[in-house]
Amino acid sequence: MTNTEAIDTRISCRAYTDEPLDEGTLDKLRTYVDELVAESGLRFVLVGPSDGGATLKLSGRMFSGNVSTYLALIGPDDNDTRERFGYYGEKFVLYATTLGLGTCWVAGTFDRASVVVPLADDEVIHDVIPVGNAPAKQPFAQRTIRAGLRRRDKKPETLYQGHTSLAHAPAWIRAGIQSVIKGPSAVNQQPVVFMHDARGLRATLPNAKREVAYTDLGIAKLHFELGAATEGMHGSWQWGTKGVFA
Ligand SMILES: Cc1cc2nc3c(=O)[nH]c(=O)nc-3n(C[C@H](O)[C@H](O)[C@H](O)COP(=O)(O)O)c2cc1C
Repeated sequence: MTNTEAIDTRISCRAYTDEPLDEGTLDKLRTYVDELVAESGLRFVLVGPSDGGATLKLSGRMFSGNVSTYLALIGPDDNDTRERFGYYGEKFVLYATTLGLGTCWVAGTFDRASVVVPLADDEVIHDVIPVGNAPAKQPFAQRTIRAGLRRRDKKPETLYQGHTSLAHAPAWIRAGIQSVIKGPSAVNQQPVVFMHDARGLRATLPNAKREVAYTDLGIAKLHFELGAATEGMHGSWQWGTKGVFA
């Protein structure tokens, strides 16, 4: 499965089967997380079924089934860290999707005390990403939750401000923004607006009210990059809302 296929297939998976991940899959995830830690310098901890069998407690209102494997995103309580976690954490999500696994970004609806990872004084748990086997079809309750959130999808043109309307913007910008809309964001707020002017193309947060929007920013930057690449534009982002795509 390519990244593009993973972007098209991924959903926030809120139901998991009891079937544990096999050792081969766990090994692949462990290797990938080691690479992410080395690349990003962030503290990603993959908590597996072998770690005392502790189960992540997800809110029963949103989720069904037990997940014994999850990624914990742990670090200092600042927006730069949030953005970087968004970018690199979404790489993990897309990788797990290529392995056929279900994942979900979770910043709010879980019990932080159920996360069995010791924290340093300056660290917080930003998010967890459960990873597990998904049923062939999500149960009715979880499909309803997702449909309700996705009903708020923004129109692509509202995520772009440039010299022209989005319809007349280069194909790589349109592909980038399509890929962003398919991506996850907290409560499906899709807060990132791409501004294109003499300074270049920037990913901004004009109306963001919550700090978690910085995680959405990192996720959107990765999705934009992957979408733009399908139209031959291979660029990368500087960090922050002032950072440009080069
Ligand atoms: C940073 C972040 C935090 C999120 N936190 C939660 C959460 O606490 N609980 C939950 O059920 N979904 C959570 N989500 C999932 C979003 O609701 C979901 O991405 C959005 O509704 C779009 O749906 P989709 O991912 O299924 O395409 C979160 C997503 C992101 C990106």
